[in-house]
Amino acid sequence: MTELPRTPSFSLSGKTALVTGASSGIGQGCAVALAEAGAHVVCAARGEDRLNDTVAALQGQGWSAEALVLDQGDLGKLKQLFETQNFEVVVNSAGIARHSPAIETTPEDFDVVTGVNLRSAYFLSAYAARALIDAGKPGSIIHISSQMGHVGGVDRALYCATKHGLEGMVKSMAIEWGKQGIRINTVCPTFIRTPLTQSTFDNPERSAWIMEKIKLDRVGEVEDIMGAVRYLASDASALVTGTSMLIDGGWTAD
Ligand SMILES: NC(=O)c1ccc[n+]([C@@H]2O[C@H](COP(=O)([O-])OP(=O)(O)OC[C@H]3O[C@@H](n4cnc5c(N)ncnc54)[C@H](OP(=O)(O)O)[C@@H]3O)[C@@H](O)[C@H]2O)c1
Repeated sequence: MTELPRTPSFSLSGKTALVTGASSGIGQGCAVALAEAGAHVVCAARGEDRLNDTVAALQGQGWSAEALVLDQGDLGKLKQLFETQNFEVVVNSAGIARHSPAIETTPEDFDVVTGVNLRSAYFLSAYAARALIDAGKPGSIIHISSQMGHVGGVDRALYCATKHGLEGMVKSMAIEWGKQGIRINTVCPTFIRTPLTQSTFDNPERSAWIMEKIKLDRVGEVEDIMGAVRYLASDASALVTGTSMLIDGGWTAD
């Protein structure tokens, strides 16, 4: 009999995952995707109420989850977390936006947005990788970047600077940690309906721009991101590192 190849496992059973920004939008979707696949999911964000609601809803489904109140701008706390706990999967979905014409961006906006989107993402990755290396374990780190890590956008010089930065950072880290079996990738969504994008969707001019650019004729939903995150977290993507998965409805096709 011909020996057939076996489909790799998408299961995350027995793994512990950290999801940042898990109390809302895409991060919440990621927490569901990983918990449903069998991982124990540590859900992190600053606001305790939304976080506890998310964890209670996950547990209500019979999945394994816990809440962790964390401002990831606090690098001391972030470092401590990885010194006390090991995560085979890390999904970083905490992110913010302050859109404006580049000539109006203030140094304060620059520091706040780069602080969360890039600085904390950088050290989160480094601390997670160091813990895995020390434990001699492989792992998968996934950053929710953006299509804006590949193109430019109206009033988005600052946001694009952080997301393009994330893309370069991930490639370099993949080179550094490949030998230890630590994979690092980004997922790059187009406009997804979440609290972060509400004001953009409420602006008729911006909404028209979005609909003109997305070839599949609809905006994204959180569910559109969940399969990619489960894939990148699992052994099904064992040979994937240093790259990005664009889930952009064809935005960047032209
Ligand atoms: N929605 C889109 O269209 C879209 C498209 C492309 C990329 N993205 C990216 O996807 C990620 C998630 O976006 P989203 O739309 O899901 O946003 P969201 O609904 O506003 O959720 C953001 C999450 O990040 C947490 N967070 C923010 N600052 C934090 C900090 N300093 N420390 C810890 N947690 C923090 C928030 O909780 P607390 O405020 O309670 O801390 C919340 O859970 C972001 O990186 C965003 O750039 C979004």
